[in-house]
Amino acid sequence: VAGENKVGLTVAVTLAIALVVIGLAQLVGGSAPEPAGGPALLERIKPVGQLNTGAPITLSAPGTPAAPVATAAAVAPAAPATGAATAAPAKPAAARSGEQVFNTTCMVCHGTGAAGAPKLGDKAAWAPRIKQGNAVLVQHATQGFTGKTGVMPPRGTCGNCSDQELKGAVEYMVSKAK
Ligand code: HEC
Repeated sequence: VAGENKVGLTVAVTLAIALVVIGLAQLVGGSAPEPAGGPALLERIKPVGQLNTGAPITLSAPGTPAAPVATAAAVAPAAPATGAATAAPAKPAAARSGEQVFNTTCMVCHGTGAAGAPKLGDKAAWAPRIKQGNAVLVQHATQGFTGKTGVMPPRGTCGNCSDQELKGAVEYMVSKAK
């Protein structure tokens, strides 16, 4: 009798588990079967989002109408900015630091001592020049200067440097020689 009970219990438990599984499967899968490719299926598998480029969304030819609109809008504002910067070289939007001016122009001679230029950081070469005072140095840098060692060209060949930027470059070189 005890053995029969055991078998009955096992069958009952198995049945209960089977019922639960079937119920879950129905919950997950949904009950009504539908024809493959039907509108409900397309609705379910459509992309979750679409890129909004501001242009009307057309799904026919992929990419053609939307892409040019997006790039034109992105590039257009940048063009006038660069145009303005190159059109007015004497007045750069933001003044460069003395170090920047030095690195772009003055370094050609003053970085290596080429053409007899006092080298950056060469205290012996700069000491007698610094004695003249910054005003004279700035004037020589701006107007050009021919001394014992060579020719310092006007504005150090930096045609688009402002007086302020030249002064900054001189001060930068002086600070490195102290
Ligand atoms: C083509 C080479 C060359 C370039 C570029 C150049 N210099 Fe010079 N610079 C010289 C030479 C050569 C001298 C030394 C002239 C002398 O004393 O005989 C000199 C000297 C100077 C002096 C010392 C002037 C004095 O009274 O002793 C200053 C300041 C100076 N340059 C600033 C600058 C600045 C600032 C720049 C960049 C904007 C610059 N230089 C770019 C060649 C150059």
